[in-house]
Amino acid sequence: MILQPHLQIDNRADLLRIEMLMDATRSKLKQGRGVIEQYREYLPVSESTPIVSLDEGDTPLIYSSRLSKRIGRGCDVFVKNEGINPTCSFKDRGMTLAVSKAMEGKANAIICASTGNTSASAAAYAARAGISCVVILPAGKIASGKLLQAFACGAKIVAIDGNFDDALRIVREIGERDDFIVVNSINPNRIAGQKTAAFEIVDAMGDAPDFHLLPLGNAGNITAYWTGYRQYQSRQRSTKLPAMIGFQAACAAPIFHDRIINKPETIASAIRIGNPASWKQARAAIAESSGAVDIIPDEEIVAAQIWLARHEGILVEPASAAAIAGFFKCCNSQEAAYSFKEIPEGRRIVCTVTGHGLKDPDVIMQRMGKVEPVAATVNDVRRAIGL
Ligand code: F0G
Repeated sequence: MILQPHLQIDNRADLLRIEMLMDATRSKLKQGRGVIEQYREYLPVSESTPIVSLDEGDTPLIYSSRLSKRIGRGCDVFVKNEGINPTCSFKDRGMTLAVSKAMEGKANAIICASTGNTSASAAAYAARAGISCVVILPAGKIASGKLLQAFACGAKIVAIDGNFDDALRIVREIGERDDFIVVNSINPNRIAGQKTAAFEIVDAMGDAPDFHLLPLGNAGNITAYWTGYRQYQSRQRSTKLPAMIGFQAACAAPIFHDRIINKPETIASAIRIGNPASWKQARAAIAESSGAVDIIPDEEIVAAQIWLARHEGILVEPASAAAIAGFFKCCNSQEAAYSFKEIPEGRRIVCTVTGHGLKDPDVIMQRMGKVEPVAATVNDVRRAIGL
């Protein structure tokens, strides 16, 4: 490998960066594909950007005959399962780009506030890049699987007596004062990476769907999808744009109520947010797409989580189930902010489920009850089965 003249080695980050570029030169295969390689022309990267990838993206878009039947009228419903990413949430799409760009900028450390998934993803990509990672979390409010991921990947974990909004306020300030790259979705590279989910959907379906349903928390994801759909349409990759419909938990619904919620509460801890960073962009996406924002009570979120697992075999975390509960609300309820009752025939709907259910096992575990063992005989087992 001949070092390019503009690559001057002046610190550890430089060495890591060069190592990565060398790796990439040795074998494209070793880097995997990942969303940056797949959609390079739409992303702010160049030949000298060291790509930090865990082969994220290319997630399943699953046709659901049962959800399609619910809506009827010849409509097709698909579930975009973002739990099938390297750290089991959609955050990896944006994190690959945010960390790659941080490496390009010779960063030594990244920092984020998180309700769990961003911290798990940041920790993993920082480990992959060989840089350090600090995560600021609301104490006692992070699902066990996510905390475990951040810890296992070597992040420095700081729990605060406060909520996500407090954590993000602190991270913004540290990002300005100290030598950290902030990898929350206020970092435009996160949004740019996440928009690739919209590209994948259009590539798989041949055009954009008519409706896109997803959970809303800090509102980065709806912003990213809308950016992606618009970009693809402007490049003639699709002929239309979907109506974007976002769902918040009933007691953590600042965008729905159009006011900051000081003490947001929900069982869906990932979207327990009272003052979303991308509030304005989410509002714009909803308005420009003639979409809607609606609220879902916790009981309906859990019911939808269990429904999706029992009827389609897809186990998602509670926040993700808000999209499915939201779909049911659009189909059934007079009070829905967007009703599918009069939907024209043959429309196509995508629901994004954002994170894997194993990240947040506690909610379902509480409902499981104890599994009592029986004697290890065929008779006892047959009796236990009910035969
Ligand atoms: N679903 C899951 C599983 C999430 O983790 C998040 C956000 C959302 C939905 C909402 O997405 O914020 O782009 O509107 N989680 C962030 C985190 C806040 O810190 O992991 P959003």
